[in-house]
Formats: sequence, C-alpha cells, structure tokens
Amino acid sequence: MSHQYTLPPKEAVAELLTWYQANKRDLPWRHEITPYRVWISEIMLQQTRVEAVKPYFHRFLEAFPDVYALAEAEETHLLKLWEGLGYYSRARNLQKAAIRIVTEYGGRFPSDPKELQKLPGIGSYTAGAIATIAFGVPAPAVDGNVLRVLSRVTGDERDILHPHTRKAAEEAVLSLCPAESPGEFTQAMIELGATVCGPNTEPLCKECPLCPWCIAAKTGKTDLLPVRSKKAPRRIEHRTVLLLKEHDRYMIRRRPAKGLLAGLYELPNELGTLTQEEAVAFARENGFQPLHIDVLAPAVHIFTHVEWHMTAYLMTGYFEEHQDRIMATAEEMAGKFAIPSAFAAYIKPITKGI
Ligand code: ADE
Ligand code: SF4
Repeated sequence: MSHQYTLPPKEAVAELLTWYQANKRDLPWRHEITPYRVWISEIMLQQTRVEAVKPYFHRFLEAFPDVYALAEAEETHLLKLWEGLGYYSRARNLQKAAIRIVTEYGGRFPSDPKELQKLPGIGSYTAGAIATIAFGVPAPAVDGNVLRVLSRVTGDERDILHPHTRKAAEEAVLSLCPAESPGEFTQAMIELGATVCGPNTEPLCKECPLCPWCIAAKTGKTDLLPVRSKKAPRRIEHRTVLLLKEHDRYMIRRRPAKGLLAGLYELPNELGTLTQEEAVAFARENGFQPLHIDVLAPAVHIFTHVEWHMTAYLMTGYFEEHQDRIMATAEEMAGKFAIPSAFAAYIKPITKGI
C-alpha cells in the first residue's frame, strides 16, 4: 500500500531550527566540527548513549587525532580504546574506512552521501549525518530518533523497522531539509528525538516546537507511535567461565577472528553449565591442575540476539608446560587486552582499584 505523508510546512522547520539554537546541548562533537569528528561521534553514538560516549570520544580523539593516525593504529590499541562500548565491528570498520580514506581519497572525506556509503561501516544514516553536518550538503539522516519524531508528527502507523518505512522517511526528511542549514536541521531532528520526544519516556509536547503540526499530539496517540514489529526473542546460552590463576596471572585467550566479539580476548569458557567436577575436568584437559576452587556468583550478559547466563569458577593452581597460552596480570587485563563487558562481572573484582 502506498502511503502519502502529510508533511509539516516550512514554517515548522523554521520553528525547529529556532528551538535547536536555544536548546541544544553542549556536546564535545559540536565544538569543532570536522568530518572526522562527526564520523567518530556518529559511529560511537549508534548503539550507545550520549553520556557514555563522551569519555570514549575524548580518549579516542586524543589517541587518534586524525584519519591518518587511525589508519596506522595498532589493532590491540584501537580495541582497547573501544572496550566497553560494545559492537566491536564498529571499531574495525572505522579503521578499514580510515585506510581507504587515506589511500583512495588522499586523506579527505568525500562529501557526497552516496560516496560516503561505499565506506565500511557507513550506512545511509551516518552518510547523511556527515554530509549535512560536516559539509552542509543536503541529505537525509534518519536514525531511530528521527523515525520516532517523524512517525508521531505525521501520524504514520507503519512499522518503523520495515525498509519501506525508512525509505519513505528518508524522502520526507530530504524534502524538509533546508538548503541553507542542512547540518543544523539534522542535528535539530536528532536532538528533538533524543530529548523532548525521547525514547522510553512521555514526550514533552508542551515544550516541542513541532507540536502545532503534530498528529500524534493532536489525536492523543503519542503512546501508540512509533509502531515497531516484535523482534525475535533472544536465545539464551548457558556458559561456564573459568578464572585459571597461576601466581598473579590469569589465563586469557583470543576469540576467533569471525563471529561474536571477533578477535577480542576472553576468559576461557565453555557452553553449558558445568558442575564443579566437570569444570575441574575441563581445566585439567587444558593443562591446568587446580589446587583450590571458589564458586563465583552467576552473572548474565545481554547481547543483541543472545543472552549469556554464566556460571563461574575461580581455580588457583598451576599449568603444565604449554606454548600458546596467554597469561595476564590484573594490570594487563585492565590496561592492555580488550576484554568485552560480557566478562565484566568476573574481571572487575580482579582489576578493581587499578
Ligand atoms: N545521537 C546520534 N547522533 C547524535 C548527535 N550528533 N548528537 C547527539 N545525539 C546523537
Ligand atoms: Fe513528539 Fe509531542 Fe513533539 Fe509530537 S508534539 S513531535 S509527540 S514531543
């Protein structure tokens, strides 16, 4: 079914821009606007809250101040700086794209959103954000925030997860995007969707510059929009995590180069809930002789498509000779190796105070 949006008029866009000028938050990436800074911040903000991103953004820019530094970064260092942000393929794609920008584009970002989208990790939203904010090129930048605002303003009841809905939203946003200030418009839409018309809270329609044109506010449907189809439920995976300690070092290992948490370091772990006896047998198979065992508290970690329900044992003992084992001190686990947050419940108590 084709569906025609009733878009708000130009006047509404002017109100939105005025509101943004008066109410925008003071955020680090809004200070000195460069394509590199916009890109890094938008990638970090894709799956992570603004407050959580701020310290990462500062550290990242200090370590890799430009696209050349990022292209040459050592992967271990890069992943360490990303530790805790999650979705590590974002960090790897940043570096892949940086290398291409250096080698194919002479170190300069393309300003055309179509060209930007050819780079690893840059989708339609990020391309639109960079083109509008950093280059002033009109383009649609439609993320979850913008989809929420648009569905409410236009009263659109289609599933926002459907590609057709996104396509229509992109056309609508492009047609609203003012030629004089594309970047301000993109940021204003995102800001409105992050604050006044935010996720998981009642919208503050009384404070909203788009209220006079908003169908959801007018018809009392704000809590019914946006419409989002149910996602498949997450799979539950039981895992047993082992802390194998010899003197002041713990065994860690590198995850496979592909798949969930690819290439990161982890504590040894096995599928299933192992009893203490089974865990000891597993440790012995891996060349470890435990002398003392503690049962640790269970922990849960939630990924996008899977939940890990973890049982854990701390075993103190000694290893037989073994060549490709990595043993890390608490300091090294805190400062050198990127170990995903999934293991935080077991790593934090060890690295606390470092
Ligand atoms: N969320 C996504 N992009 C953002 C930005 N540029 N500023 C604030 N929140 C955002
Ligand atoms: Fe959101 Fe209310 Fe503004 Fe409509 S009027 S866009 S529902 S905050």
